Amino acid sequence: MKTDSLYIHIPFCDHICSYCDFAKVFYKEDVANQYLRRLAKELAGIKRQVMKTIYIGGGTPSALTYEQLEYLLKRVERFVGKRTKEFTVEVNPESATIDKLELLKKYHVNRLSIGVQSFQDHLLHMIGRKHYSYQAIEVIENAYKLGFENISIDMMYGLPMQQEEDLMHDLERIFELPINHISYYSLILEEGTILNYKHYQPLDDETDKRWNDIIDDRLHKMGFHKYEVSNYAKGEHESFHNKAYWHYHNYLGVGIGATSKIDDKIISHSRNMTKYLNGENIEQIETQTSEDTMFNHLMMSLRLVDGLDLEDFYQRYQKHVEDVFGHQLQKHLDKGDLVIEDHHLRTTPASIAYLNDILVDFLPE
Ligand SMILES: C[S@@+](CC[C@H](N)C(=O)[O-])C[C@H]1O[C@@H](n2cnc3c(N)ncnc32)[C@H](O)[C@@H]1O
Ligand code: SF4
Repeated sequence: MKTDSLYIHIPFCDHICSYCDFAKVFYKEDVANQYLRRLAKELAGIKRQVMKTIYIGGGTPSALTYEQLEYLLKRVERFVGKRTKEFTVEVNPESATIDKLELLKKYHVNRLSIGVQSFQDHLLHMIGRKHYSYQAIEVIENAYKLGFENISIDMMYGLPMQQEEDLMHDLERIFELPINHISYYSLILEEGTILNYKHYQPLDDETDKRWNDIIDDRLHKMGFHKYEVSNYAKGEHESFHNKAYWHYHNYLGVGIGATSKIDDKIISHSRNMTKYLNGENIEQIETQTSEDTMFNHLMMSLRLVDGLDLEDFYQRYQKHVEDVFGHQLQKHLDKGDLVIEDHHLRTTPASIAYLNDILVDFLPE
């Protein structure tokens, strides 16, 4: 299968948020310079090819200086061309200055993913964010004025001290903004994070479900359709890059903590900065069994409201999903929490909320 998507990880942050378990370190100019040089080597090792989707994520890519960002964008240029449908960069409100946004535009970035999380300063403070709500609004408006038509924001719910009225308040702010995509995550309590250390109690299942329903409903009224467990888009603005993951297509990942999927191979980078800077970047190359590949494909695609494309599944594995997942599949079809419609296997609007419980039954032995 062709590989049309490229992910580049920038692990630097100006601050460390209390919930975050991603591969990241505090920004230091000299380490960032060394990292970018190694990244340039990794990118230079990839055969020149125009990618359909490119995603520079983090960490915080906008924590880099203007010069560092330009150094990186120049190295990515050889993967950008007419065929590139989507080129996204993640930015944070405190560091996405107008000159950096202009630079991104100059290098053909056509989509921004802005880490907003909440529009309320007291909640931002509780989770260790360093920006204020007005800065997030400013960055969204600046980006729009500069001609970015694809603007996505990351939001979270279930934050410490957050009340239902806070959630409503955040949803109201969204209505006023020129954005066409939202990732709205329920806060996951990750081991090794400050929130976990402080024994923060996340939302109980019932409240989580009710708040998720409120989000679905309010965003729907604002013209956003839900297309994945945590993702909403207006019109055609679903993320092509993320859909490549959910359709279990091939992708290349570079930088610490990044993963590539090339057919049945999963290639994982070490999260260790020292190793990466020494060129020992690949930690593990795993060859998946066909059972694992088919399960992972099912698992990723059921996250999509559209679900798993059954014809595509057959084309790829020369097997029908019913023959692979036999009685487990029948059990969930009988229960009605999975349905087959329009040549797709999908969850229902209700059962997508407990997808993980459904998937447990499909795990390979
Ligand atoms: C790893 S961050 C990178 C982007 C950027 N640095 C930022 O802070 O927005 C990507 C997104 O993942 C989400 N995220 C990170 N940790 C999470 C957690 N423990 N639970 C839920 N969502 C989380 C946040 O919404 C965040 O914007
Ligand atoms: S959420 Fe974003 S800014 Fe916060 S620590 Fe994680 S990667 Fe860095």
